[in-house]
Amino acid sequence: MQNLKKIIIKRYNNIKILEKYKQYSFSGLKKIELKLINKFVKKNSKILDVACGSGRVLLVLAKKHDVYGIDISKKMVFLTRQNLIKRKLKAKLEVMDACSLKYKNKSFDCVLFLGNGFEQIPEKMNRIKALEEIFRVLKQNGIFILTTQSALFPDFKIWVLLFFQYVKYHLFKKIKEFEFGDLILKDITDVYIHISNPFFIKKRLKHIGFNLIKIVSEKNKKFPYFTKGLIYYVARKQSIKRFKRL
Ligand SMILES: C[S@@+](CC[C@H](N)C(=O)[O-])C[C@H]1O[C@@H](n2cnc3c(N)ncnc32)[C@H](O)[C@@H]1O
Repeated sequence: MQNLKKIIIKRYNNIKILEKYKQYSFSGLKKIELKLINKFVKKNSKILDVACGSGRVLLVLAKKHDVYGIDISKKMVFLTRQNLIKRKLKAKLEVMDACSLKYKNKSFDCVLFLGNGFEQIPEKMNRIKALEEIFRVLKQNGIFILTTQSALFPDFKIWVLLFFQYVKYHLFKKIKEFEFGDLILKDITDVYIHISNPFFIKKRLKHIGFNLIKIVSEKNKKFPYFTKGLIYYVARKQSIKRFKRL
């Protein structure tokens, strides 16, 4: 297994991290998430929560929808399962990689990829694969809501950090999958995160066949791309997938 994927799996199977997520499980949806879901997701939808973690999002949605959740960490899935039992709720959970979904084409009305899950997929080709997989499992006119951090946030310190980490991990430590935009930080364990360029995300979503219907950020309403907080992309599956590579 590649080095970066090992870091991710090790983190989300770590007992202290699981304890932290256990406390976070019932914190509910953020205002902006609730607003977007209420606006774009119909009642009784069949929803897939990708990288569901300990179930923060899924536990709210399971009350009104037919919910499915996947996560790459076995222990996170176990934790969500326990949380569902505690609240007497139902959802179908599986350990699965977002880059290779085991669902049939056109299975879901809505797919959610919220709260830094997408940022934890190493390598551009894998992030593209995950977006293509989500497109595939969505029904025609299905809704996809994605969050990412923004590499365009004008913070000199972050740009310097990105540069030094690239030199350190890619060039010196020879982790060949470490790309510019990747960071390895410390929070109990190592945390891997990729800071995305929102122009790339937008272009890629469109190329795959999504119609972007809304882009908003929590902190910068006027210029959502230049935010320190998360960017929310709401996209609709509209066309047949084009196969031409960018
Ligand atoms: C920061 S947590 C987000 C949890 C949840 N979405 C939320 O908003 O509270 C990131 C989650 O992504 C999961 N993850 C990382 N890479 C993944 C992958 N390739 N496929 C599925 N899940 C993944 C991790 O195991 C972890 O539970």
